[in-house]
Amino acid sequence: ACGVVPEAWRFDCYPERGVVVTRELCEARNCCFIPASSFSAPGRNGVPWCFYPPGFPSYSLVSVKATELGQTGTLVKTVKTYYPKDILTLHLELLYETDHRLRVRITDPSESRFEVPIAVPKATEKASSPAYSVELSNEPFGIIVKRTSTGAVLLNTTVAPLFYCDQFLQLSSSLSSQYIYGLGEHRSSFLHDIHWNTLTMWARDVPPTELTNLYGAHPFYLAMEEGGTGTAHGFFLLNSNAMDVALQPGPAITWRTIGGILDFYVFLGPDPASVIGQYLEVVGYPTMPVYWALGYHLCRWGYGSSNATWDVVKNMRNYGIPQDVQWNDIDYMDRSLDFTFDPATFSTLPDMVKDLHSHGQRYVMMLDPGISSIQPEGEYWPYDEGLRRGVFINHTDGSTLIGKVWPGLTAFPDFSDDVTHEWWYDNLKRFHDKVPFDGLWIDMNEPSSFVDGSTVGCPDTELENPPYTPGILGGLLRAKTLCASAVQKTSSHYNMHSLYGLLEAKASACALKRMLGKRAFVISRSTFPSQGQYSGHWLGDNRSHWKDMYTSIAGMLTFNLLGVPLVGADVCGFSEQTEEELCVRWTQLGAFYPFTRNHNAIDQKPQDPPAFSPLARSAMKQSLLLRYSLFPLLYTLFHRAHTHGHTVARPLLFEFPKDVRTYGIDRQFLWGKSLMVTPVLDPGVDFVVGYFPQGLWYDYYTGDSIRSKGEELRLKAPLEHINLHLREGAVIPTQRPNTTLFVSSGQPLHLVSSLSEDGSAGGELFWDDGETSDTLETDQYAHIVFTVVKNTMTSEVLHDHVEASYITVETASFYGVKVEPTRVTVNSQDAAFTYRANQVLTVTDLGLNLSQNFTISWI
Ligand code: NOJ
Repeated sequence: ACGVVPEAWRFDCYPERGVVVTRELCEARNCCFIPASSFSAPGRNGVPWCFYPPGFPSYSLVSVKATELGQTGTLVKTVKTYYPKDILTLHLELLYETDHRLRVRITDPSESRFEVPIAVPKATEKASSPAYSVELSNEPFGIIVKRTSTGAVLLNTTVAPLFYCDQFLQLSSSLSSQYIYGLGEHRSSFLHDIHWNTLTMWARDVPPTELTNLYGAHPFYLAMEEGGTGTAHGFFLLNSNAMDVALQPGPAITWRTIGGILDFYVFLGPDPASVIGQYLEVVGYPTMPVYWALGYHLCRWGYGSSNATWDVVKNMRNYGIPQDVQWNDIDYMDRSLDFTFDPATFSTLPDMVKDLHSHGQRYVMMLDPGISSIQPEGEYWPYDEGLRRGVFINHTDGSTLIGKVWPGLTAFPDFSDDVTHEWWYDNLKRFHDKVPFDGLWIDMNEPSSFVDGSTVGCPDTELENPPYTPGILGGLLRAKTLCASAVQKTSSHYNMHSLYGLLEAKASACALKRMLGKRAFVISRSTFPSQGQYSGHWLGDNRSHWKDMYTSIAGMLTFNLLGVPLVGADVCGFSEQTEEELCVRWTQLGAFYPFTRNHNAIDQKPQDPPAFSPLARSAMKQSLLLRYSLFPLLYTLFHRAHTHGHTVARPLLFEFPKDVRTYGIDRQFLWGKSLMVTPVLDPGVDFVVGYFPQGLWYDYYTGDSIRSKGEELRLKAPLEHINLHLREGAVIPTQRPNTTLFVSSGQPLHLVSSLSEDGSAGGELFWDDGETSDTLETDQYAHIVFTVVKNTMTSEVLHDHVEASYITVETASFYGVKVEPTRVTVNSQDAAFTYRANQVLTVTDLGLNLSQNFTISWI
């Protein structure tokens, strides 16, 4: 029977690392042993030599019952597996939650098991006309989910045996195609390689490296279905335990997790954007960022003093380079202690922050979760009070778990406990009274520790040494973090580990909101599904390499799929020395990260814009002014993300899902549906090749048109230029930029329309005061829709607010006006205009109040 299994469909029966799998070992598991026909790519697991034979014992479905929301059933198994503690009887629950969302839960009916403590919607009614059908296979048990409209099989778990042991749960399924995205956090191309590629999830502090578990864990994938139909679906395993996600060319996938339950969702789309919207309905839409979050952020590790930090800000101002936010890394702290600042080197910190505020700028500083445990009693309130209130994570014997971070020995707050949130708030408040910071940078929250487990090691238990350990870096759950057995309020660290960053972000965002009464700004290194509700993310400790700049695009796009649109990489690179050309190109690309921050490692030469030659500096300044001019568009896109779960930085395939050539693109991307960014990602070039999906495109700067058949084009790209193209049919609101978004925010608008072949276009603007929470819910916003048809632009105020009345529309440009107009009227009055041979009509000196409807027409 072994011989009939094609290599692409061999499911690994011996995934343990560091074991040379022999025939004896394999057959002891009752599996097939056949050496692979060829060697696999290094670093990947390759074609398994030991794999499940057809008919390997699995569960049988012995009863099914219809319920109000779907079906329930009982699964049983008689033969034990080769891992301890098989759960031989399981409860199956199928929930037809909506027409586009199926949920499946497989649980232990005899004992409750750990479930991820995030709020998910509770359906009350069964979907009336689901886009999916579900078939259950009895023997062996399996679930087959099909898309009703096409018959496409989206899930088929009969392809390999189901495992459900206490510490080893394994579910395999066929995939509908090789086009798989998501599965963060990993460093890879945007489109995953399914060629025996195992992605491990377990939050980990390590510079982004291929085939390694990184800072966050996101067991969600988006799949484009076969055949270029453009249909897409999604899959989400709601599980926080250490896991492997193994992709193989079948195409097939195996989820191998070491705890919790099997609780998963299938999202039917049918287009990729809807899949993401449906996923985010489950884990939560991203928060609406405070306006200055979208400005330029400057940071480094090792300014050394508040005055040196301040000098950088002043230099930026002198050169007129946009900057909204200045940051400090741990060096602002007194001996690396949270909630302190160095009284000698950072004595002027409060003054600097006041100065930032008086210039409409903001201040963000770092906090690490590790709280120093070795200060003399009575001298360090955070620890003393934390102990008093019992906020720290303990060993199983009740003693405080001590690890090691920057300040030396530290305890770790347990953010799964509300008491800790209150303590965190109190600390922030006390510090804020001294240094009125505006937002928080939460680092090292995997949580990272410089010793494995704790200073006294970890007990030898099943949680520490599970029967199976996924392919995590270091080979041990406790590698560079806390003991898996450590005790948290909600559950063991074994279960809670990858949730640490999420819960710390939640505590931080709630505290900031409560303290400042405005939208909270938090950037977190570790993330988990639903993170976007509380924070953004930066992609961690990249290097100042061209390759790192390239991979940042995939990282940014992936986090946009994962509901964390406020994301970016360290611009110019974190570790190693950057070079001028790289830093210019990176600042240009970074100008299109939803979150753009230049950050540098300690001991590296400065890499802020003023540190470079006048030429480089001016190119950087230009790209930042460009970003600031696009703020109205960016802000509106974030509003769409917040209210509809849309992506901000968007892969091309989302807009051209029927064009298979877009499926692998991760050197270009869009902002929203229309603005395409084609950055230079290579040294020493003055051109760049970009793919233009079929249709009409316009050079954003000149309005020159390009009619593409769906082809690659070579574009000029001198050092000071980043290629931007507007897709036909858009109206994008832009604004005269200034050096802070606060100052820009009152400046006049310039509407840019890119007409379709038939002369139509559309767009919108969401506008509010930029910082009040829940302006949508409380009606404190303006929403304006722009439409162009038949030589007339109409601006329609769908929802008005006084904030819009402060703004005027000064200029409107129309790309693709085929015939030179003889007359232009604005609200029926004649208006001045220019027309260029490249078919660009520009109407100037409009002085229109944004809060009033208007029309612009030409004949
Ligand atoms: C690690 C962070 O990823 C990095 O950005 C920071 O500079 C260092 N910690 C020091 O705080």
